[in-house]
Amino acid sequence: MQGGPQHGPVMVINQGSKRETGREAQLGNIAAGKAIADIIRTTLGPRSMLKMLLDAMGGIVMTNDGNCILREIDVSHPAAKSMLELSRAQDEEVGDGTTSVIVLAGEMLSVARPFLERNMHPIIIVRAYNKALQVALDVCDSIAKTVDTNDRDVLLKVVRACVGTKFVSRWGDFLCDLALQAVQQVSIDLGNGKKEIDIKRYAKVEKLPGGDLSECRVLNGVMFNKDITHSKMRRSIKNPRILLLDCPLEYKKGESEVNIEVMKDDDWDKLLALEEDYIKDMCSKILALKPDVVITEKGLSDLAQHYLIKGNVSCIRRIRKTDNNRVARACGATIVNRIDEALESDIGTKAGLFEIRKIADEYFTFIEDCDDAKACTILLRGASKDVLNEIERNLQDALQVARTVVQDPRLLPGGGSTEMHVAVKLLEESNKVDGSGQYPFRAVGEALEVIPRTLCDNCGADTLRVITELRAMHANGQNATSGVDGTTGKIASMDDTGVWEPYQVKVQTFKTAIESATMLLRIDDIVSGSKPKQSAYGEALASGQLAGN
Ligand SMILES: Nc1ncnc2c1ncn2[C@@H]1O[C@H](COP(=O)(O)OP(=O)(O)OP(=O)(O)O)[C@@H](O)[C@H]1O
Ligand SMILES: [Mg+2]
Repeated sequence: MQGGPQHGPVMVINQGSKRETGREAQLGNIAAGKAIADIIRTTLGPRSMLKMLLDAMGGIVMTNDGNCILREIDVSHPAAKSMLELSRAQDEEVGDGTTSVIVLAGEMLSVARPFLERNMHPIIIVRAYNKALQVALDVCDSIAKTVDTNDRDVLLKVVRACVGTKFVSRWGDFLCDLALQAVQQVSIDLGNGKKEIDIKRYAKVEKLPGGDLSECRVLNGVMFNKDITHSKMRRSIKNPRILLLDCPLEYKKGESEVNIEVMKDDDWDKLLALEEDYIKDMCSKILALKPDVVITEKGLSDLAQHYLIKGNVSCIRRIRKTDNNRVARACGATIVNRIDEALESDIGTKAGLFEIRKIADEYFTFIEDCDDAKACTILLRGASKDVLNEIERNLQDALQVARTVVQDPRLLPGGGSTEMHVAVKLLEESNKVDGSGQYPFRAVGEALEVIPRTLCDNCGADTLRVITELRAMHANGQNATSGVDGTTGKIASMDDTGVWEPYQVKVQTFKTAIESATMLLRIDDIVSGSKPKQSAYGEALASGQLAGN
């Protein structure tokens, strides 16, 4: 490797790549963040707009869920991409607030712009932002109110406020009821005040196009898209004894290649007889437990099926692992993975009804009327696939919010009032911060006002007047619950409108927004566009070595 000043410039970065450094990179990131925030700003709040998106496969997505919109759009700027990750993280963490977090992060970035233009070092801005976050969290702690999670009405109110901003809000409380019911069903008390609520694994949403919304319900048990393996088996069994397996009911095939040399004709018969005996033995062990239903995750051979039919057992094969787990929790069974080890206690007896039902053109297995089911299926019916998908997304939000509140029963007022309260507090505290850090510290407050401002904008209110008035009301730590009524655009107390949000959602929104903004501000170099791989010929051609040949 030769190089150095006397040999011309050293090429370190590939020529094909694009590079932005310093101020240019920072301002570019800010612009990208703001652009993303502007896209979804109109979908915040109860008067929000839906977006209709055409995905890569040509399908239509209609939604106002921030995360979902961002997932569908295709962006190229790396900072914009990292903003998308934000809302995904928010979605996974708490499920709601995915629009707020992006709008807020975009605003945090754009208020930093004047400081950068005035040559303030990003580190100063970042430090001030982090200090402001700390103050914001303290304020949230001080105005949070704790609710009783056993009070169904309170929970319902919180879920309703969350779903109120959604497409399904037109169907009122119905969906909130479903969400609450599902969460209560899957929650397990772990003692000392802790609860395990695993919605992802134990509350499954099944969408069946057709029917109408009023037919949606939470099953007291589970349901999945499978039929029994043979038409002679019973299709409806009361109080079934259910055996769950995750091993195959067929002759075991060798793990690696197995060769058998058959020398005589009757050796072959012996071999088959061995297989038959093996299956017969397996089935007799199963029948000894007297199950009515056998469900396996693996295969089921014809022969095994024959013996099981003789024992009057209904079988279902190749059920998904996740479905099997839910069935186990619903009927109190344990999944057995070696038939030799199956015990009486592994049999699930808590289900009231096993039934195969035909809905539209497909067969579904229902395991219902369970006694204390700890898993459930939420059955959604609706006119079309697009509507169902949106209902499912809304339901997921509602489920997550219900779960979050049950786990952490603290609430913060919504409608932009928490944000406003924090903003005013930051303004008041800003002169305690020394040095130039106080300007970005104050700017965080201004940025937080974007939430009430956007809520106002989206319902066509006189934004400037409302925000000024609201700011005055929050002065000196008063009126913490005053915010914007998102439907009328007037100032209202959240005690009256009942819009309260889970503490976790709000705090997570602040944390994520500020952390991501500070992260983007610390970037001063963007190298992008590494060349796509070319053939050696193509490369030579591109670099001009072949020119003239
Ligand atoms: N009736 C209402 N009046 C005033 N503000 C409301 C009302 N309902 C909800 N809000 C406010 O609207 C914001 C939530 O809006 P929205 O649900 O559209 O977005 P998100 O929760 O941030 O994102 P997403 O639900 O898409 O994940 C919160 O700040 C909440 O306080
Ligand atoms: Mg929401």
